[in-house]
Amino acid sequence: MARGTAFLGCEVAILGGAMSWVSERNLVAAISNAGGFGLIACGAMTADLLDAEIAGTKALTDRPFGVNLITMHPDLFDLIAVCAKHKVGHVVLAGGLPPRGSLEAIRESGAKVVCFAPALAMAKKLIRSGVDALVIEGMEAGGHIGPVATSVLAQEILPEVANEVPVFVAGGIGRGEAIAAYLEMGAAGVQLGSRFVCATESIAHPNFKRAFIRASARDAITSVQIDPRLPVIPVRALKNASTELFTAKQREVAQQLDEGRIEMAEAQLQIERYWAGALRRAVIDGDVEHGSVMAGQSVGMVKAEEPVAAIIAALTAEAEAALAARHPR
Ligand SMILES: Cc1cc2nc3c(=O)[nH]c(=O)nc-3n(C[C@H](O)[C@H](O)[C@H](O)COP(=O)(O)O)c2cc1C
Repeated sequence: MARGTAFLGCEVAILGGAMSWVSERNLVAAISNAGGFGLIACGAMTADLLDAEIAGTKALTDRPFGVNLITMHPDLFDLIAVCAKHKVGHVVLAGGLPPRGSLEAIRESGAKVVCFAPALAMAKKLIRSGVDALVIEGMEAGGHIGPVATSVLAQEILPEVANEVPVFVAGGIGRGEAIAAYLEMGAAGVQLGSRFVCATESIAHPNFKRAFIRASARDAITSVQIDPRLPVIPVRALKNASTELFTAKQREVAQQLDEGRIEMAEAQLQIERYWAGALRRAVIDGDVEHGSVMAGQSVGMVKAEEPVAAIIAALTAEAEAALAARHPR
């Protein structure tokens, strides 16, 4: 993990993957305090809210942490300015190609830029445009996902680019043995989301945590697109009544498109806003039936509520044992 820890400035190269509503000051600070690297999920926050969240996190930890920004946020450049004001050391850009000027704006502030690479060609392009590190996230992950499995992305991308920039592997990681395997393949570190949802320090509603603890891998299913004219990015979440609500929302938006009442960009924005609201309903209000309980397949390995430090200690002990067994002294 040495390359990963040197890049991040922490003890263990485990990124706490940004999770909207869940990755706020308490969980982020707890992950950094435990030696990992917490990431604030900016999601749909305004610049003022992000400003307060960064300040709040700094009050809880003096260790480094980063901020995850969504590229299609309408105020992306204001959010970058807020990160610069607070001298945030690492900014992760999620949700599609970084818009023109955004990489430069982040780098000018002195921060390192981390981007998601959904395919090898894109990884190479991002490296050419100057990103400092990459995350490769497979379809086992929770939340919005791409079409390819983590194991395949790792085989396609790590051998080609892991020597050029640090690469962090995400999606479907629940135990340290898997971390060890990706490190051996050339990863600089990993990013985990689902495994941290039930941390004692996580503010997720008790119902949300209970749903996680009960669920097995097969319960974390992907959303279904109903209209070919309205392409929606699949979302992985626990199966519940919200599946029907999402179908209804897509019908409503598709009808507005049909009637020429909205443009495609607005239609897609409405879908994204739907997810933000549905996730809030489950994480904050605890309505795990009608809200969206976004979860990765690794949810099956979440067995109890426990402190972040215990989760990170278990993961590192498992990784160390796996590596020691494979490379006896
Ligand atoms: C509840 C939830 C919300 C998420 N929200 C975001 C988000 O806002 N931005 C983002 O880049 N990734 C988001 N993710 C993805 C995580 O950051 C992380 O990459 C993913 O959970 C890794 O897969 P795992 O859950 O199998 O560990 C979310 C994941 C979950 C489970």
